Amino acid sequence: MSKGVQPISRIIGMGVSYPETILSNSDLEKIVDTNDEWIVSRTGIKERHIVKRGERTSDYCIRAAREAIAEAGVDPLDIDAIVLGTISGDFRFPSTAVLVQEAIGAKNAAAWDVSATCSGFLFSLYMADTLLAANRAKYVLILGAELLTPMVNWSDRSTCVLFGDAAGAMIVTKATDERGIMSVVIGSNGAHVDLLYSIGAGTASKGDLAASNGDRYLVMNGNEVFRHAVRVLERMAVEAVAKAGLEPADIDWLIPHQANTRIIRATAERMGLPMDKVFLNIHKYGNTSSASVPLAMYEARNEGKLKDGQTMLSVVFGGGFTWGGTVIRF
Ligand code: ACO
Repeated sequence: MSKGVQPISRIIGMGVSYPETILSNSDLEKIVDTNDEWIVSRTGIKERHIVKRGERTSDYCIRAAREAIAEAGVDPLDIDAIVLGTISGDFRFPSTAVLVQEAIGAKNAAAWDVSATCSGFLFSLYMADTLLAANRAKYVLILGAELLTPMVNWSDRSTCVLFGDAAGAMIVTKATDERGIMSVVIGSNGAHVDLLYSIGAGTASKGDLAASNGDRYLVMNGNEVFRHAVRVLERMAVEAVAKAGLEPADIDWLIPHQANTRIIRATAERMGLPMDKVFLNIHKYGNTSSASVPLAMYEARNEGKLKDGQTMLSVVFGGGFTWGGTVIRF
């Protein structure tokens, strides 16, 4: 019997999708007053994948979902719920989750979006685990998907260098042994909305529902967000590990939200985890918001790093503020 709590739910399939087009730091040097050295040293990002005009978030979700379903070997008709973390859905309404439902033929599922910025995937994982614990579902499809580059202000060098586009999906079902989600914690604090937001077509747009150009953009006070993120991520890591009945030394991999290498390094240091236990792919994708954790988990596993029986910790932080942490034994 392994150390730690018995999981309730387990991931049985994963899928990802991201655009082919790569925007490198040297490409960005031609658009704004920036340089590769600044971006790499301050963020860890070398390039990011960006969508072409006309592509939709649901396109990426559907591809990721199909891959996860195929790996899980699940009939889409047996999926009871589709929970999609996104702040960049195709429409203001309906949800992007119902578009996924229709495309994959999950006719028996209830489908809805979760708005929790970069924490959207962790919030969806929390819901899946809760639904399974309450015996309200047998299979849950969870997704984290974000096309943030269309809402980035390409003349604001402090934000436009940070983001990339992607989607990740997983199928979650009841755990049958000691492998699975050992803990998942989430939280929010609405006191700092001014530090990270996008008005978009929201009612804050002075009644003009066809959002004006300025309202479309993502606005962030990076310095302040950084300060909050480091503190909260450490707390999430400590809580998630304790709730799993483990200690930091039991963690094989930290697979965190890929927002900034310096934030990740600080979190690992505070947990006493060496950097060779930290999975990073931020250099290839930038910050893909709610897609970042499923994309990193997928790559860590497919690269043979995250192995069966190993235990991983993930922590996330995003606009809202929202945050979360999870410990999963693979
Ligand atoms: N290229 C060159 N110089 C730049 C750039 C750039 N792309 N961007 C900013 N600078 C300059 C600034 O103008 C400033 O110059 P000054 O000193 O002459 O005024 C200097 O670099 C330092 O700027 P800072 O903002 O202090 O840089 P910092 O080290 O804080 O890094 C960053 C900025 C990368 C944004 C960092 O603060 C960060 O990662 N914050 C957290 C982001 C995050 O985690 N967000 C949450 C998730 S996102 C979501 O939920 C949607």
